[in-house]
Amino acid sequence: MRLGLLTGGGDCPGLNAVIRAVVRRADAGGDTVLGIKDGWGGLVQGEVEPLTRLAVSGILSRGGTILGSSRTNPFRDGDSGERCSANLRRYALEALVAVGGDDTLGAALEFSKRGEKVVGVPKTIDNDVGATDYTFGFDTAVHIATEAIDRLHTTAEAHSRVMVVEVMGRHTGWIAAYAGIAGGAHCILVPEKPVDLGRVCDVIERRRKRGRHFSIVVVAEGVRLSETRGYVVQEETPDAYGHVRLGGIGHVIAREIESRTGIETRVTILGHVQRGGSPTAYDRILATRLGVAAVDMVRAGEFGKMPALRGDRIVPVPLADAIAHPKRLPPEILDVAETFFG
Ligand code: F6P
Repeated sequence: MRLGLLTGGGDCPGLNAVIRAVVRRADAGGDTVLGIKDGWGGLVQGEVEPLTRLAVSGILSRGGTILGSSRTNPFRDGDSGERCSANLRRYALEALVAVGGDDTLGAALEFSKRGEKVVGVPKTIDNDVGATDYTFGFDTAVHIATEAIDRLHTTAEAHSRVMVVEVMGRHTGWIAAYAGIAGGAHCILVPEKPVDLGRVCDVIERRRKRGRHFSIVVVAEGVRLSETRGYVVQEETPDAYGHVRLGGIGHVIAREIESRTGIETRVTILGHVQRGGSPTAYDRILATRLGVAAVDMVRAGEFGKMPALRGDRIVPVPLADAIAHPKRLPPEILDVAETFFG
């Protein structure tokens, strides 16, 4: 069998581990893999390259994706969807494995509805894809953000400052909550819960009265100050999937904290640092298991689905379940986080 493989959307540590696993599993069963460059964009253009065992040698620990990625939406412009299907035939690809977040998986589902043989693989540092317990990349991002929070503690304490740390998380606060809990943040603000700046300032004031003159506030980029106020964005023009580029809510919150408490406040926006570099062992293992499972699902004819982590098992789930809603933080995680506020 000949499989096509693409990685779409924002990159994430562990993508190369999936690519290696797909190629190795396919090769072990006598199947071949063609890599499609730059996500759906490469399928529209017909840009492919053979993925041999040699081509994937040494990539397990590397961040990024050797295939490249893009936010191309194959169903947005003219006949791009038809061109993708035509290229699947042109290269005699009998099935396609599409690795991505909700947007890429949504496009994979659409191709599947049109009769193409597609298996998805969930990825995102945001951990907000539904129907799976965790996505690879998330653990690495949490490690990076936790290390940053640890470092910010010492400089915050030295200067008696408030440090606002902005992390990624467009729809959900998984990175903020996990890194905030792991890093001992004094307040964590997530999109799942309305922001109460009065409460944030009370926490900071109470700490000051106890002689703790510094505080760490972690905020997810997708936090809004109220239901009616929009996102803080870096770029208003939406991408091909309708998403604006978020970033900067940390500055808005920091200004408010400084003016209400009078405490000098600084902002750190971690940004793409969270998506770069080598994946953790956990992410390498999860990504490897998913890549192996994806090939097995192709062989079993389980199309329109993706392998998902449920407990400690990898199971096939419908793509429709994965993209139905962003997977939000469960209330018990928020409860754990709030126990340590102040
Ligand atoms: O989807 C993952 C994500 O990391 C979001 O948290 C973030 O808003 C977005 O990607 C940024 O993507 P880029 O700037 O690469 O388009």
